[in-house]
Amino acid sequence: MITPTNFYQPGLPTAEQLASWANAYFPADAAAPLTSAAPSIAGLSPAAFSPEYAPTSAPLNYAADRAPAIGAAAPVSHNEWRKDFPILNERVNGGKPLVWLDNAATTQRPLQVIERLSYYYKHENSNVHRGAHELAARSTNAYEAARQKVADFIGAPSAKNIVWVRGTTEGINLVAQAFVRPRLQAGDEIILTELEHHANIVPWQLVAAATGAVLRVAPINDAGEIILSAYENLFTPRTKFVSVAHVSNALGTITPVAELTAIAHRHGAPILVDGAQSVAHLPVNVAALGVDWFVFSGHKIFGPTGIGAVYGTDAVLKAAEPYQGGGNMIADVTFEKTQYQEYPAKFEAGTGNIADAVGLGAALDYVNAVGREKIAAYEHQLLGYTLEKLRGVKGLRIIGTAKEKASVAAFVLDSHSVEETGKFLSERGIALRAGHHCAQPAHRRFGLESSVRPSLAFYNTREEIDFLVNALRELTRSR
Ligand code: ALA
Repeated sequence: MITPTNFYQPGLPTAEQLASWANAYFPADAAAPLTSAAPSIAGLSPAAFSPEYAPTSAPLNYAADRAPAIGAAAPVSHNEWRKDFPILNERVNGGKPLVWLDNAATTQRPLQVIERLSYYYKHENSNVHRGAHELAARSTNAYEAARQKVADFIGAPSAKNIVWVRGTTEGINLVAQAFVRPRLQAGDEIILTELEHHANIVPWQLVAAATGAVLRVAPINDAGEIILSAYENLFTPRTKFVSVAHVSNALGTITPVAELTAIAHRHGAPILVDGAQSVAHLPVNVAALGVDWFVFSGHKIFGPTGIGAVYGTDAVLKAAEPYQGGGNMIADVTFEKTQYQEYPAKFEAGTGNIADAVGLGAALDYVNAVGREKIAAYEHQLLGYTLEKLRGVKGLRIIGTAKEKASVAAFVLDSHSVEETGKFLSERGIALRAGHHCAQPAHRRFGLESSVRPSLAFYNTREEIDFLVNALRELTRSR
């Protein structure tokens, strides 16, 4: 079992707090359904989640509508939250109940988000920040309210510190081009780590190629943890920036962000934290962590695709140069000279993804309503259960055995290839990722090109894990 974690973060749950939440929310009887004590939030109208949202008709009771009978061999759910996620009732591959264990690739959306998007298009749709009419005011209010929700959710001091982007990838590219590139000279250094997603490697290769800067890579140990002493040894007077994942999408490692940040700052280097895989699973407070930049994607936290956020401190947002030019980001334009808006507008050229930003706000309301402590405690238990059960499968090797892990339980089988395993599981209705998960260097560290990756969210259940493990036993028995 993984041990309770303190996530290495100041102001965030200690091991004792986490254990006490787990005990409070989910009594420690391993045989009991994990969510037997969890209250249902199904049936609450979206208005309960989004104060500015005023539905004109009764909310759908989607779960009751569909209520497919689940077959005896299928994972029966005791998890009340699932009712809010209609897609979890889908059947796939000839009628098999869907077992969604691909949450690191994308999460599913609750009705509260789906309905919020529909409400936006039915009642609020307009461009924002312009137009002297009622709908412009409604859409601007909803868009800016969502920005405030993001700021509150991650502990940013103000909505001004939040820039809308398409997602984590665009966010990292923005920081690379707008903030880091103008500060680089040939021979300057950027520090990354061996467990990064390609989205936190390639943008830095682009700026390095353009400026003559050099990438330095902090190694990980056999468990998939960053070796802190080796990380610190990489700093030189030429170190200009550090960019690290908060949670590895391939290994699940929770990195010691507060410590990594303190070390970077001791050496005078600003740091970006890629929060794509952490924000839905751990409480995150950017002020407590002390990071300069933090980026995440809406679709990994039960919100829409195509929307994400960049947090920056006032200092870095002020110092960064505009990323793209166009409307919305200007204060005054002549052919001779353009004066830019203050941040965040300075980085938001053109019409943004208004509806999906509003949808992301609804997703964050939803997560707050479920309870972030509860999610962390529930997932912590479920991941421990998953790893323990997987270890019981003959010839299965877990990839990434860090003491501090979230959501991800990647593995390989010695009897079957990753592709064969993925295909076999998919035929049984189990959706997970089988491949390199856009993290080739992290895999190669373990002598692999790919792995099978179940990744959890709070709507997953022990029954689903048992279903996965039984399928794996069936597969491994076949050879
Ligand atoms: N970054 C996503 C993943 O890990 C797509 O699957």
